[in-house]
Amino acid sequence: MLDSIAGLFSNDLAIDLGTANTLVYAKGKGMICSEPSVVAVADEKRGRGERVLAVGHQAKEMVGRTPGSIRAVRPIKEGVIADFEITEAMLRYFIQRAHNRSKLVRPRIVICVPPCITSVEKRAVRESALSAGAREVFLIEEPMAAAIGAGLDVTAPTGNMVVDIGGGTTDVAVISLAGIVTSRSIRTGGDKMDEGIINYVKRKYNMLVGERSAEAVKMQIGCASPQTKTMSMELKGRDLVNGIPKVVVTNNEEMREALLEPIHSIIETVHLTLERTPPELAADIVDRGIMLVGGGSLLRDLDVLLREETKLPILRSEDPFTAVAHGAGKVLDNLPLLRDVAIS
Ligand SMILES: Nc1ncnc2c1ncn2[C@@H]1O[C@H](COP(=O)(O)OP(=O)(O)OP(=O)(O)O)[C@@H](O)[C@H]1O
Ligand SMILES: [Mg+2]
Repeated sequence: MLDSIAGLFSNDLAIDLGTANTLVYAKGKGMICSEPSVVAVADEKRGRGERVLAVGHQAKEMVGRTPGSIRAVRPIKEGVIADFEITEAMLRYFIQRAHNRSKLVRPRIVICVPPCITSVEKRAVRESALSAGAREVFLIEEPMAAAIGAGLDVTAPTGNMVVDIGGGTTDVAVISLAGIVTSRSIRTGGDKMDEGIINYVKRKYNMLVGERSAEAVKMQIGCASPQTKTMSMELKGRDLVNGIPKVVVTNNEEMREALLEPIHSIIETVHLTLERTPPELAADIVDRGIMLVGGGSLLRDLDVLLREETKLPILRSEDPFTAVAHGAGKVLDNLPLLRDVAIS
């Protein structure tokens, strides 16, 4: 009874709880926020646990720059919840933000989860959302949401392949008749690319760079195949020999080399999924191509390399960052579809 009254005043939400970014779509309002999945927490005095200081952009600014008593935490690692309490705090923040900080609302929430998620992990997501104030929680698989968000007709009896390269995971899935026919996920995505850059710079220049600097250089000059024009960029960090801050100049060819390993894993996963796709659906994919979504798909020439490696048409969604959240939002507006695609 109380629940249904609280429900009257709340907007239902669709949440893409990503490793790197969390996006929230509110029914009737559209996309209402997109923020880094980062929470800054401070130790309370006299050992009384922790207090949330900032969430999202503000907290991301603090990553790698915090004093001893403050931690900037990314509660989602490799696509799944690594820190239950902090995830709950983050969800509560997003739910309250969606409802102008009112604490009394109890929305129905659709949350996107990776297809490889275990039942224990599913329960963790569900319980986090319930204790953060949700009235009812539906889980849908990210590739399904991404396909719907990218405008593919998932209920038709045709094969669609979606490749979602996120921060923590890459999910490759073939969808037909509102279900995932085959899928494969690897815990490689944008974060592993950043790691590749950090390790490369360590080996080649004896210098330690931070995660954020590595990400910045990846976005600006990182690439998946050789470029005709050389682009250079300064990279700042700490010298590993004498411990002093230093600057080196790196270029796109070096960054391509640094990214070889994660990119190879992504391409291999696409190959393996194609190999396991039933022939009729494989024929559909030859005609319709592969849809790329996720922030990692923005890496320069990754689409070119995939086209060369698979000989298939490669399509990019209009906005790779929001495809999953948009798809989940569309599902929220379409209850029969929600029943079709929600997982138990
Ligand atoms: N121009 C770019 N080139 C390369 N990588 C990029 C670019 N822009 C963003 N990225 C990367 O995209 C990743 C974030 O993508 P996205 O928001 O889709 O991930 P996510 O949904 O939070 O993660 P996941 O789906 O794995 O949980 C980050 O690793 C970021 O560095
Ligand atoms: Mg994602």
